[in-house]
Amino acid sequence: MRIVSIEELPRHVGERVQVNGWLTGLRSSGKIAFLQLRDGSGYVQGVLVKSEVDEAVFELARSLPQESAVAVTGEVRADTRSQNGVELGLDSVALVGRSGDYPITPKEHGVDFLFEHRHLYLRHKAPWAMLRVRDEVERGIHDFFSDRGFLRFDAPFFMPTAVEGTTNLFEISLFDEGSAYLSQSGQLYAEAGAMALGKVYTFGPTFRAEKSKTRRHLLEFWMVEPEVAYLEHEGNMRLQEDMVAYLVGRVLDKRHAELELLGRDVAKLEPSANGDFPRITYDEALAYLATQGELLQFGDDFGAPHETMLGERYDRPVFVEKWPTAAKAFYMQPVAGDPTRVLAADLIGPEGYGELIGGSQRIHDLDLLRRRLREHDLPEEAFGWYLDLRRFGSVPHSGFGMGLERFLAWVTGAHHLREVIPFPRMLTRIYP
Ligand code: 4AD
Ligand code: MG
Repeated sequence: MRIVSIEELPRHVGERVQVNGWLTGLRSSGKIAFLQLRDGSGYVQGVLVKSEVDEAVFELARSLPQESAVAVTGEVRADTRSQNGVELGLDSVALVGRSGDYPITPKEHGVDFLFEHRHLYLRHKAPWAMLRVRDEVERGIHDFFSDRGFLRFDAPFFMPTAVEGTTNLFEISLFDEGSAYLSQSGQLYAEAGAMALGKVYTFGPTFRAEKSKTRRHLLEFWMVEPEVAYLEHEGNMRLQEDMVAYLVGRVLDKRHAELELLGRDVAKLEPSANGDFPRITYDEALAYLATQGELLQFGDDFGAPHETMLGERYDRPVFVEKWPTAAKAFYMQPVAGDPTRVLAADLIGPEGYGELIGGSQRIHDLDLLRRRLREHDLPEEAFGWYLDLRRFGSVPHSGFGMGLERFLAWVTGAHHLREVIPFPRMLTRIYP
């Protein structure tokens, strides 16, 4: 018997096939049983008619607890009422692994309960759909960059120094080497990679000891960080726009059913697949916020409510560029003729999703970079290798970092970042 995945069933209408999966729900009368089945690739209903099968098969099926593992056989029938257009007319049900008193029942559970049982909750429709979108985006990131001649470059996770400020570092002991830190960003290493390989991107977990509980912060999140030699600020923003438009378009195209299952209003996403993201300067953003009664000083960073206000003005992400030097990291290239501002841009998502991307052109001048390290009280010895990149054939270069979970939360319409990663790590959660 041919084993077919549920996702593939529509191509086998009229055939008898085997499906290996689990039982998610059961309804039955004395004469007929409806088995809700899943196999990881999708969901389908199996129909078992008592008069058509052995009594023992019917009674077994009717007795199975939720999440029992079963191998079933039956005919694939067209069914216009079901989501994927088919159902299974079952003729056998074999038990592979019996389930017990499964904790996640069809009744409503609180968020804490569901995340305490995340290892099981992953089997349910919303997390299942989220993770399918996540997979598509990860795959899309690799395709986008490899199609453009980028090489994947793996940065280390144990770091001798900070990259993005020292307030949210996780410190670890490296025995005789003393203290080290978990990586907040692979950027500095990606810069070495760009000088060696031209166009690179890192993609991996990053760690930040964020002490505030917010729905936009995780302690461990995944970041994609391209870095390109000879690329300047304008080209950097274009690369971001192209990447985001491509990824949104790809999800709309390939994961439409999942977005629908999640209740995402896709009409709100569609404009973002066209690129053409608006750009405003930091100063313009400040002026706009002032008209909304939010009086910020030059140099202030935006809080979540400010990002929401800015993002809600547009139907697609907006770049806020040319930030105050004092508000940003040490490595950013100043605006020509204006040392008080840097060639940095944050990409702010619409609908209140906040900062999706942070990026900048990097300082390529050795003396300026040394001065900036001093101003930031960073130890020059620890950055010797990084300064070498400016000693031996330095060129203008740029890059950015996109938080995968920020992007996914926006695309799927998730309220909290914990929804879009298999096992979220937060101040209040380390189990399972
Ligand atoms: O703006 P950030 O701090 O930029 C950097 O790390 C640069 N080194 C990137 C680069 O130029 N290569 O972080 C980049 C992005 C943010 O825009 C946000 O999407 C995400 O990382 N991010 C977080 N996501 C989840 N939880 C957190 N605690 C995050 N902190 C940042
Ligand atoms: Mg940032």
